[in-house]
Parts: sequence; C-alpha cells; structure tokens
Amino acid sequence: MRLAPSILAADLADLAGALALCEQGGADLIHVDVMDGHFVPNLSFGIPVLAALRRRTRLPLDVHLMVSNPDRLLDEYLQAGADSVAVHWEVAPHLDRLLDRIRQKGAKAGVAVNPSTPVELLTDVLPRLDYVLLMSVNPGFSGQAFLPRALDKARRLAHLIQENGLSVEIAMDGGIDRGNIRDVVSAGVEACVVGSGIFAAADPLAAMSELRDRARSEVE
Ligand code: DX5
Ligand code: ZN
Repeated sequence: MRLAPSILAADLADLAGALALCEQGGADLIHVDVMDGHFVPNLSFGIPVLAALRRRTRLPLDVHLMVSNPDRLLDEYLQAGADSVAVHWEVAPHLDRLLDRIRQKGAKAGVAVNPSTPVELLTDVLPRLDYVLLMSVNPGFSGQAFLPRALDKARRLAHLIQENGLSVEIAMDGGIDRGNIRDVVSAGVEACVVGSGIFAAADPLAAMSELRDRARSEVE
C-alpha cells in the first residue's frame, strides 16, 4: 500500500511542517487537493503554492484537480512540479486528450471519479491511465464520512483492469482512517489518500505508522 497524506487537512499556515512530517513518517507521495470554488464548493491551492511545495520536498506531488476547466489549468500545474495529476471524469469530455498531455510531460495520468460515477464508464480510457482515484466522499472537504459503497466500486474496477490485462493503480480518497483502511486495501486499493486520519490525530507520525500496520495486516 502506498500512503498519500492529503495536506488539505494539515495546518495550512505551516505547510513546510506538514511536508516534514510526511517525510519523517515515510509517506510515499503528497496528495495536493486543488479546488476552484466551482466544481467543488471550496478553494484551496493555486499554482504558486504547488511550486513552493515542490521546492520544499523530494516526495512526488500528486495533484487532484477538482476544477471545472482542467483543460485550461493542467499545463501550469504540470509545469509547477506535479508528478501525477488526476482530472475528474465529470468535467472532462475530451479525456483522452488530457491524459495524453499529462503523459507527454512525463507525469502519471489519473482520472478521479465521484461517488455517483460508475467505474464501468472508464472501460475505454483504461489503457491511457496510470491510476484511477476513486472518491469515497463527495469532493470538497476533508473530514467527511467514508461512503462504504466505494469498496464495491474498487472491487469492480480491479476486475475490469484485470479483465483487460492492464496495470492501472487503484487509489482511493476520502474518509479513510484506522477503522476502515483494512477494508479499503482488501477491496484492491493500492494507494490510500488520508487527510484528517493523519493530520487531525494527536500524533500524526503514530497515525501514519498505524495506518501502514493495519493495511499490511490485511495483505499478509
Ligand atoms: C476531498 C479531498 C480529499 C480530502 C481527504 O475533496 O479530495 O483528498 O482532503 O481528507 P479526509 O481523509 O479527511 O477525507
Ligand atoms: Zn483529494
């Protein structure tokens, strides 16, 4: 399991401190939630913030673009240092083109799907994908409750990937914590995005290590 702390849930006045914690806790990548106040009812990190994060860490920056117009913003986020970018299926009518643009810049191409979007809609785009980000909450905020239906979607997606003989990573985002990470991993999820499950914990380092242990106990 790859662990991707979502810094949206960190102390936003101390992002450098959050990055240091992630590094110390052995995070595999840093999940950066980009929100435009339009596709989702919240605003978060702009391009200069991503560039500043890039200067502070060597960990891969995993950008989750929750914006209505990924077509217009994509290149600038890639330029600012994104190592992987997920665009939302719901706002990307020309998904093939967007995904190619991500890969051409040497980044990993992902698609994020809202809880109400069936994974079967990804069948034809799977060969162009490095990962799928399954939303287990409706995007917009940290700290929301996990929607258990996402587990069935992960299993269906894993089946779809296998059926097509492909290797596409399954990531999940929203409401993952110590209580459900075992179920998430056993449903076939390989990368877990965790916000408040880490940063709202009294001891974020201990929380990261516990999440890993619990995920591992499922795989073994
Ligand atoms: C939700 C974001 C998530 C969020 C995760 O819109 O995409 O990445 O920050 O936070 P938790 O783990 O608290 O749900
Ligand atoms: Zn996210």
